[in-house]
Amino acid sequence: MAVITFANAKGGAGKTTAALILSTELARQGNRVVVLDADPQRWITSWSEVSGNIANLEVISHVTPASLPCHIRELKDQADFIVIDLAGAKDAIVALALGLSDQVLIPVQGCAMDARGAVQILELIRQIEQKARVRINHSVVLTRVNSLVTTRALQAIKTLLASRGVSVLDTPIIERTAYREIFECGGTLQTMDASRVSNLDKARENAFALAREIQSLLPVMAKRSLASRLRWALPRAA
Ligand SMILES: Nc1ncnc2c1ncn2[C@@H]1O[C@H](COP(=O)(O)OP(=O)(O)OP(=O)(O)O)[C@@H](O)[C@H]1O
Ligand SMILES: [Mg+2]
Repeated sequence: MAVITFANAKGGAGKTTAALILSTELARQGNRVVVLDADPQRWITSWSEVSGNIANLEVISHVTPASLPCHIRELKDQADFIVIDLAGAKDAIVALALGLSDQVLIPVQGCAMDARGAVQILELIRQIEQKARVRINHSVVLTRVNSLVTTRALQAIKTLLASRGVSVLDTPIIERTAYREIFECGGTLQTMDASRVSNLDKARENAFALAREIQSLLPVMAKRSLASRLRWALPRAA
C-alpha cells in the first residue's frame, strides 16, 4: 500500500485534477484505490456522486486531521493506493498528510510557473523532515502544460528546478478538455465519448504515462514503515 498526496498551498494549481487522473488510471489497471478527499470543497466527492460506481475506486470524504491517520491504518490491508487530495492551504491536515505520505506530488502550472505555493509545501516538507527525522519523497509535476510546449522547454524548467534540489516528473500533465469534462460529466477517461471530446486518446495516453512514472518512483520510497509514520501522526493509536 502506498500513500500519494497532491499538495500545493496555492489554490487552483491542479491538485484535484491530477489526483483524479492518477486515481482513475490506477483503478482502471486493477489496483484498489481509495481517495481521501481532504478538501472541504469536496470536488472529488461530488465527482464520485455524479459518476456512480467506479470499479476499484472508493472515495472517502470529510477527512479531518483526527480521522486521516485512522483511515490510513484501516485501509492499509485493503487498498493498493491511497490518494489524498488537499485544499490549497498550508494547515494542520496538509502537514499531517505530507508526513504520512510515501510520495508527495506538487502540481505546478507549466504556463505560469508561479511557484510560491509549491515553495511553501517544499519548506513544510523540510520542516517535517527535520522535526521527525524522516525523509519525505516529493516531486513537482508540471500541469496544464500546453501541448505545443517543446520537450526542450520542459527540460529547461526541469534543469532549473533540479539546480535548486527539486525533482520534476518527466511526464507533464497536458492541458486537455477531457480533464475538465471529467468533473462536469462524471465517469472516467474510459467512459467518455471520443467523438465528443477532442484528443481523448492523447488524454488517456498522458494518464497512462503519469501513472506509470509515479508507480516507478514507489519501489525506491523511503523505507520508513507505515507503523513508524502512524506513530508520528498518532502517538497513542499506532
Ligand atoms: N491538465 C488540465 N487540463 C485542463 N484543465 C485543467 C488541468 N488541470 C487543471 N485544470 C483546470 O484548472 C482548474 C483548477 O484545477 P484544480 O481544481 O485541479 O486545482 P486545485 O489545485 O485542486 O484547486 P483548489 O486549490 O481550489 O483545490 C479547474 O478548472 C480544472 O478543470
Ligand atoms: Mg482541489
